[in-house]
Amino acid sequence: MCGIAGYIGKNEAAPVLLESLKKLEYRGYDSAGLAVIDKNNKINSIKVNGRINLLEKELRKNDPLKGSIGISHTRWATHGEPSKKNAHPHSDCEENIWVAHNGIIENYKILKEQLEKEGHQFKSDTDTEVISHLIEKYFKKNGQNLEKAVRQALEKIEGAYGLAIIARDEPDKIIAVRKGSPLIIGLGQDEYFIASDPSAIIGYTKQVIYLDDEEMAIIKKDGFKVVGFDNIEKEKISQETEWDVKQIQKSGFSHFMLKEIFEEPEAIKNSIRGRLIPEDGLAKLGGLESVTEKLKEINRLIIVACGTARYAGLVGEYMIEEYAGIPVEVDMGSEFRYRKPIIDKKTAVLAISQSGETADTLAALREAKRKGALTLGITNVVGSTQSRETEAGVYNHVGPEIAVGSTKAFISQLTVLALLAIYLGRQREMSLITGRRIGQELQKLPDLAEKILKQDQQIKNLAKKYSKFKNFFFLGRKYNLGIAEEGAIKLKEIAYYIHAESYPGGEMKHGPIALIDENLPSLFIVPSDSVYEKMINAIEETKARKGKIIAIATEGNEEIKKIADDVIYIPKTLEMLTPILSVIPLHLFSAYMGLELGCDIDKPRNLAKSVTVE
Ligand code: F6R
Repeated sequence: MCGIAGYIGKNEAAPVLLESLKKLEYRGYDSAGLAVIDKNNKINSIKVNGRINLLEKELRKNDPLKGSIGISHTRWATHGEPSKKNAHPHSDCEENIWVAHNGIIENYKILKEQLEKEGHQFKSDTDTEVISHLIEKYFKKNGQNLEKAVRQALEKIEGAYGLAIIARDEPDKIIAVRKGSPLIIGLGQDEYFIASDPSAIIGYTKQVIYLDDEEMAIIKKDGFKVVGFDNIEKEKISQETEWDVKQIQKSGFSHFMLKEIFEEPEAIKNSIRGRLIPEDGLAKLGGLESVTEKLKEINRLIIVACGTARYAGLVGEYMIEEYAGIPVEVDMGSEFRYRKPIIDKKTAVLAISQSGETADTLAALREAKRKGALTLGITNVVGSTQSRETEAGVYNHVGPEIAVGSTKAFISQLTVLALLAIYLGRQREMSLITGRRIGQELQKLPDLAEKILKQDQQIKNLAKKYSKFKNFFFLGRKYNLGIAEEGAIKLKEIAYYIHAESYPGGEMKHGPIALIDENLPSLFIVPSDSVYEKMINAIEETKARKGKIIAIATEGNEEIKKIADDVIYIPKTLEMLTPILSVIPLHLFSAYMGLELGCDIDKPRNLAKSVTVE
């Protein structure tokens, strides 16, 4: 979703702003813009409807905007179509106050009407523009004090926002505001950076300050202060981000998605590193230490997450119920708070989110907290909103995930859930031997995952063979039900000319089988596990109706070749861990299908990486 960047310091702002926006491209956007204060305190702005390279071209054409203070933005349209006029930053009537905004202003219609009655002239269809006009109004009213005017404007606006604000009449500062949408300040040598996330600025500095909700930073060249919306100054401590520049480069791969799939074995390794005590059959999850005693008491776990992260939750449900004996429910972040979740002090709510910024997941988490649940999280982004709002949690530590479709983070979420099953299980009935066994098998997974990636060419050929089909079914059962869901979402998201649906193998005969004919291939995830025979029944039923079958099966299963049209093999592991392997060919399949169909697999149309609006 929208990305914000800002720069104030000794260097030219425009190149930094442009570079930062390029790093934020992965979040998904449709238009972009920037505004820079020049040496005569005039604010110059360039906006484009399209990609950053267009903005770069425009910048070159216009002789790069000169000045060492500026803000920039990538917009993912919510209010008003993608267009140059709706691109940010947005200014007030006098082109004095300029605002870049991430989030949604819920009461913008009423505010706009009032401001129009008062004579303000709007130039765009966005909700954002009301912010610049509101600030203008208070700036004039209160004797031209930008900080005060911003605070007064914030009192009037409802919704979620991260804001970067500059003004011609106070040209020595950038004001950054956060309520609901993430914003960080990067600390350089006599220079400061503002960004929606650390990936935008790690080329310049690794020292960052995470703004909390209802905080406002007033940043000048020689220092900054952070105040709450109540105007009380806050002390902020900087942190060093663990991400480095190499992680945000393609490193020889044509696409980030492919790079990140090939990083999946490493993702498993990083997720288990230092977290197993093999001889004791224990998982050591440092982030949960503070709530160890509380976790012994819980008798119910609710997992809340969205999209791919929720499918990891579906696998986690089976792992934790079977091995820790705790009843688990999995809910969509977007639904949870609109039903009446039954929660008591013995319920833990676990949010899973790669970004840690998904608005729906955060809303669910806050509702759970309000109702007294113990809140836990699994996230990849250190310092993210989720990590700061949960009582305890586990990081994925897989480095930045740039491609919009989540792949290596998903593998890591599954791995962490397996660790959690050991952790909770060993607090309860799980035997030493079982704990040890899962731990041993987990440690083998990175090598087994590498082995699957060696079938790269075979999967590419498969994609070529099947790329003419317009619809696909993905079927799995038990541990691999969540993987069928993941396979389907990835295919329709990445190869976006294809429609894909997933079903539990046993549900086929209750309706979907009506759709089967030679034009609808089905991808069956059918490892040699406790539901293998049942899955074979579903394959036979599909085959009998002329459906084409692609099977993901366990090495050594030669039988399957007799009924499937194509087979991809995965190595043998414990049943509960098969999803960590079976998903790898599905990720490759969707990436290669996308490439076959000419899709932008890193930035699929209409999608955003970090969905920070509800
Ligand atoms: C699909 C995908 C999305 C995300 C979902 C949640 O490939 O990436 O479905 O999984 O938007 O995002 P996070 O994990 O950041 O909460």
